Formats: sequence, structure tokens, C-alpha cells
Amino acid sequence: MTDRILIIDFGSQVTQLIARRVREIGVYCEIQPFNKVTAATIKAFAPRGVILSGGPASVLDIGTPKAPDELFTMGLPVLGICYGQQTMVAQLGGRVESSDHREFGRAFVDITGASNLFSGHWTVGGREQVWMSHGDRVVSLPPGFKVVATSDGAPFAAVADEARHFYAVQFHPEVVHTPHGTELYRKFVRDICGAKGDWTMAAFKQQAIAAVKAQVGKGRVICGLSGGVDSSVVAALLHEAIGDQLLCVLVDHGLMRAGETEQVVRVFRDRFNVRLIARDASDLFLGKLKGEIDPEKKRKIIGATFIDVFDEEAHKAGGADFLAQGTLYPDVIESVSFHGGPSVTIKSHHNVGGLPARMKMKLVEPLRELFKDEVRVLGRELGLPDEMVGRHPFPGPGLAIRIPGQEITREKLDILRKADAIYLEEIRNAGLYDSIWQAFAVLLPVRTVGVMGDARSYDYALALRAVTSTDGMTADFFHFDMALLGQIANRIVNEVKGVNRVTYDVTSKPPGTIEWE
Ligand code: XMP
Repeated sequence: MTDRILIIDFGSQVTQLIARRVREIGVYCEIQPFNKVTAATIKAFAPRGVILSGGPASVLDIGTPKAPDELFTMGLPVLGICYGQQTMVAQLGGRVESSDHREFGRAFVDITGASNLFSGHWTVGGREQVWMSHGDRVVSLPPGFKVVATSDGAPFAAVADEARHFYAVQFHPEVVHTPHGTELYRKFVRDICGAKGDWTMAAFKQQAIAAVKAQVGKGRVICGLSGGVDSSVVAALLHEAIGDQLLCVLVDHGLMRAGETEQVVRVFRDRFNVRLIARDASDLFLGKLKGEIDPEKKRKIIGATFIDVFDEEAHKAGGADFLAQGTLYPDVIESVSFHGGPSVTIKSHHNVGGLPARMKMKLVEPLRELFKDEVRVLGRELGLPDEMVGRHPFPGPGLAIRIPGQEITREKLDILRKADAIYLEEIRNAGLYDSIWQAFAVLLPVRTVGVMGDARSYDYALALRAVTSTDGMTADFFHFDMALLGQIANRIVNEVKGVNRVTYDVTSKPPGTIEWE
């Protein structure tokens, strides 16, 4: 079995970053919420070491989250981060107090003692930039521990019990604001825990293929293929694992971007030889969307129609035993919620999520353990073209939600598609595509007056949007060079009949969202 690290989550906003850092070092890890972890689950998972995450609670309150006490007698190395440090110290007999000197944001720690956790930049006498976010702080240590780094607000910024391989830091080494933080994780997981660092995508691919074969046997698998990164990687992986037992269904709702459906067919059917049904259902979708201008209703119509068409194609093909899905690790991690309450629905996102319950098929989810950037690496490993693997996210309802506040027609879709293609082509030519999370054009429900040649025009206004983001949850608008924006606007107005004005959206998220609907 691959060496693995267990991360016990106490609800920090940045727990996932710990997992990313550990995996970047080539070591497989999983996140489990503190309230599901027991001595028995730790033994069953058989980690090489355990990391305790930060979290919003205070160990000074009654009934606050703890690591299982047995963890500290199992002989496993443990690294506590922020709240993880505090609970570890408190559980082992030290003391934590609430501090009047709170530290949030950038801070500096002085390395005062040698430790196996340190190397390279982290040397005795050195000073390191770190990121702190704490109110409570450790004031006395459990037996066996010594201080190895201090800061103004945290005299116990890093502490260690080398004999038992217990380490704990008050700061967050996983965030970019701790520039040399990854080194601490590397020392911990590779040297102290002794994890081999052989978790590569090539190895994962082989394991995933073996797992799919074992799960599916001689069964038949159906996969909804949209051309997005996740479904493309699932399809390519399954094809390599089970060949013709896989059937892919591409439902073309007529709301795709220029050339997209053709590209998917070219890559999967022609190049990979995957069994693929590409169903042009644009008449059906556009018929159902006729007259609809409400964003939520558009989403619901598209979602429901998608399921109907997929269902129909699956039946025609004789059904299947399994449904393949591109579920990713962030969808699977059980999050720790202290504040409770369901969050409000801003938009009802549509993807193939509605399928399994209705179709009564077992699920095959080979990407369940991966983060998005890892899926991209796997895609390359499977031989998918870069333009597919590195593609910007594209919403399930497609261009329908980029024609806001107005009826969707073929004419408007054509205009939008042409403008969008020019915009993306210019971004690619400028070498900016990979620096942008998502870029697209929006056809506005306004016509404006313009002058072309000597004639008056009265045509659509268009908005361009480009954002940077790490997860789509928050975003900033992309700072284009104005000359490039001008050039793009010029090309669009000259080359796309029906558009005579171009604007650029400079709203961040929040308060805006990425899509306009
Ligand atoms: P918003 O607009 O909510 O979008 O800031 C965040 C990310 O989600 C994508 N998005 C969708 N994806 N179905 C999807 O599969 C949807 O209905 C949907 N709406 C938005 C959006 O493109 C961005 O990447």
C-alpha cells in the first residue's frame, strides 16, 4: 500500500491546502473530520503520520474538539498546526491561554532551537516569514517538549518533542504567505514519518485502472461526456481500463461554444476510438427554452432536459450497470461545520448530479481522491490534448446563462459564439490563457447606437469577463493591458455582425458572481 498521511480536520478554512502541500511532496493523504476519527479508524487507515489542522474553536471552551487521546500513544509522528498545536499541548498536559496579543496575518518567527522539523531556510538563528491567525496561545509545555521557534505574539511558535516525534506550530505553513512552509511539511512527512514520496500520477493511474477493473468486472459503464476536464479525464481513464465496456454519451444542447462538440468527437471517437454517441438535441433544448428569460428557470429546464435525453440514449443503447462520474476530492471531503445552517442558494448549479438516483445505477467515480490540478496532470498522463486538459471551466447550462435577461435564440447564440471565439483566440495569442481562471463574452439585452462607415448602426452591446481565482469561490477581475482590450473590442465589432459595442466587467466576486446569471 502507498505510504499515507492522515489529516484530522478541525474546521480550518485552509485544511485542504495542507493536503495539497503533502501531495505535492509525493505523499498520498486524506482529510477526515475530527468527529469521525477514532483510534480504530486511524489504525484502519494505517497512516505513517498524522497532521492536526487549525480550526475556529478555542481549547479553553468546554467540549471543544479533540484528537482521540489514543493517537498520542500509537507511536505515530504527529504535527499540530495552530488549533492542532493547542489541542495537542492541552491534551498532553500543557497549558493554553487566551492572549491579549492576538496575531493575524504576516509575522516573523525566530528559530531558537534545532529540530528535525527544520532544514534549509529553517536554521537556528534564522528568521522566517510566517502566517499567523490565532487568539489563544500556548503558555506552558507538556513534559518532553521544548521551544524551537518564537515570535512576538507566540513565544511557543514552534515546539517539539523529538523523542516521541511530536511537533506543533502556531502558524500556518501551508499558505503561500509562509514562503518556506512546504519545507516543514517535507521534513515531517518524508524524514520524520518516513513516507516514501512515490505517489505520482503515473502510479495513481495504474492503481485507478486496477480499481476500476475490479469494481466493474464484465459490467457495462455509461459516461456523460461534456468535454470539460473532469468528464474527459474520467472517459479517457475508463477507456484505458475497460475499453469497449464503456459507452460515452455527449448531449449537445446547442449551448456549447464554437467547435467544442466537434473537438470532443474528434479526440474521443476518432483518436481514442471510444464508443461515443453524440446526440444533437439543440432543437429540443431551444424549443423548451423558448420565451424563457428567468435564470433559475433556464437552469432547471436545461438540467431536466439533459437528464431526459441522457436517459433516452442510455435506454436505446441497452442500458448499463454503472454510471461514471467526475466527482472530485473537494466534493467528497466531509466538511466540519461549527456554525451550521445550510447556505443560501445563489445559483442552482447543474451538472449530471441528478442522474444516479433516477437511473438506479451503481457509480464509478475514479477521481474521488483527486484535486482539480491533479486531475489535469492525470489527463496529460492519459494523453489528452493540452487544450482539453487546461480548459477554463464552462458551466453546465452553457451559453444560455451568458445571454442574460432575454430569450435564447439561434441568432443570439451565433453572435455570442463568434465573439467568444475571437476573445479566447486573442487571449491565447497573447499567452494569457493559463493565467486566467475563466474568460468569456456575455451578450447583453441592450442595443446601442453606433456608426460604421458612414452609416448608423443599432446593434447588441457585449460584455467581456475574465477573472483570476483558485477555486471559483472568490475571484478578481483580470487586469488586461488596455491596448489588448482595445484590439479585442475592435476585432469583435469588425468581425461579428450584430455587435457594435464592447464593455469590460471589472467586478470581483463577491459581490459579483463569475457568470452573469
Ligand atoms: P458563479 O457564477 O456562481 O460561478 O460565480 C462559479 C463557477 O461555477 C460555474 N458555474 C456553473 N457550473 N453549472 C455548472 O456546472 C452551473 O449551473 C454553473 N453556474 C456557474 C462558473 O462558470 C464558475 O466557474
